[in-house]
Amino acid sequence: MLVIQTLLSTLLSLSVFSSIAVAAPLPVLENEVQNVFALVDKPPPLPTLEDVENQLNVPAGESLFYSCDNEDPAQGTCKQAKEWAKENHPDLKVLSQLWINSSYPDPWQTDEQISTKFWDIASKAMAVKSSGTVYVVLPPWESADGKDWYDSSYWARIEWTELQSNGAVTSVIRVNAATGATIRIK
Ligand SMILES: *[C@@H]1O[C@H](CO)[C@@H](O)[C@H](O)[C@H]1NC(C)=O
Repeated sequence: MLVIQTLLSTLLSLSVFSSIAVAAPLPVLENEVQNVFALVDKPPPLPTLEDVENQLNVPAGESLFYSCDNEDPAQGTCKQAKEWAKENHPDLKVLSQLWINSSYPDPWQTDEQISTKFWDIASKAMAVKSSGTVYVVLPPWESADGKDWYDSSYWARIEWTELQSNGAVTSVIRVNAATGATIRIK
């Protein structure tokens, strides 16, 4: 809280200073503060799918997707996916390990809605660029075909949809995060 108060008073004095400097009429301070915030936080326009594809290096047969549930402890986390890969398929990589420039996503992480839109594009780009056999670490499946999951996840909305229509992806193997059991779903 103290940090926020300090930041706010700094911004207030900055906005007063800048309005004096340009000899503007006395501003409504609240608006000025909002403008300063907007200036500091405003992310660049969202990248296109092609932009993001160009920022990813996705070797054939090395894609590892994951999606977790809301249980405690969560099943299907990024950490579980990486640990499973380390033991079983050390060449597999999750999205965060595929960026040519690891800070590329940063400008779009200041606002939750924009961040979701960014990761929608990034998830799709990874799925588009994937080929060969790909893996997905998810919570345990209940249906016999192994195609049950949380509907609102990036996996359900974006990645699985794209992987199904991506002809270069020859198979998709689902991994049970808790036991390491696998089932082929494509
Ligand atoms: C990496 O990405 C960040 C954030 O998008 C950008 O500011 C920086 O210039 C990029 N670095 C290189 C070497 O492209």
